[in-house]
Amino acid sequence: MPTVMPSSSPSRRCMDLRPERPVPGIVEDAAAGLLEAPRSLPPKYFYDAVGSALFDRICDTPEYYPTRTEAALLAAHAGEIMRRCQPRALVELGSGTSRKTRHLLRAAPAPARLTYWPLDVCEPVLEAQAIALEQEFPGLAVQPLVGDYHGGLAHLPPMPGPRLFVFLGGTLGNFRHHEALALLQELAVLMAPADALLLGVDRVKSTARLNAAYNDAAGVTAAFNLNLLQVLNRELAADFDPAAFSHHAAYDERAAQIEMALISRHAQQVELGALQRCITLAEGEPIRTEISRKFTPESLRALLAEAGLGLEALYQPEDGSFSLVSARRG
Ligand code: AVJ
Repeated sequence: MPTVMPSSSPSRRCMDLRPERPVPGIVEDAAAGLLEAPRSLPPKYFYDAVGSALFDRICDTPEYYPTRTEAALLAAHAGEIMRRCQPRALVELGSGTSRKTRHLLRAAPAPARLTYWPLDVCEPVLEAQAIALEQEFPGLAVQPLVGDYHGGLAHLPPMPGPRLFVFLGGTLGNFRHHEALALLQELAVLMAPADALLLGVDRVKSTARLNAAYNDAAGVTAAFNLNLLQVLNRELAADFDPAAFSHHAAYDERAAQIEMALISRHAQQVELGALQRCITLAEGEPIRTEISRKFTPESLRALLAEAGLGLEALYQPEDGSFSLVSARRG
């Protein structure tokens, strides 16, 4: 079987990244996470159209510093990053609208020698961005990949190196230690000596600043969290009443992570149509919706080393609030 399946329509420009292992869908994840306490759901279901728009609005709140801090680091250091790696392929995991990546593309010395390979689950956004980017960066080739990196990266199409793998936004923080390690190990195994990984992660800092970032005064993060219930109602034929839940987010210093949950305001029953099950939630019972781990330069270096990656450069703002690192195999 070819690693990249032919497109279904002749005009379709995205390639499918064939998964190397099955990726559970929302029904399976809900069955595994919601039927008994402690209840939880994977954070990837936040990002329907409404949730993605709410996340963009979170990034504009004064409290949520990570996105603008990472963008400033990319703007300041893109030239050095591109010079160090000299990539002929830029592969981005979870590219979204590629907003921050434009700093790297702008710094490419010869766009005609570079191909940008954005990987995302959302094909319409990939198609639209590919057209926009090729107009913005004359000579640049864009080859979008539709797929989910949770399914593995072994079936990435062959491409000329060096390859710069890019994983931004602090998304690695959504993974538990063993999951983050597994993803980094997969990358390490795939990487040639000339390839590099550019990784953005949030940093350990004062509890007050972290709690504020996930409890913005305008309530955008609360709306983002609660929107997950609308996703469940739609995708699982469930009957969650968002008014019966409250947003909770707090930094756990010992675990070095933000823990976000939806708290049942009172005892209630919820119907999960697609599971043909009804669950009973106690007053005050949480449904864990996200962890967001925070790193120190030392804890990040240790994680990378455990995965077989060596930290090559660390870029940080003066206040040390965020880390953008470049890593290589070995
Ligand atoms: C996109 C996963 C990095 O963990 O900070 C923002 C998501 N959740 N506010 C994060 C998020 C609540 C964000 N990541």
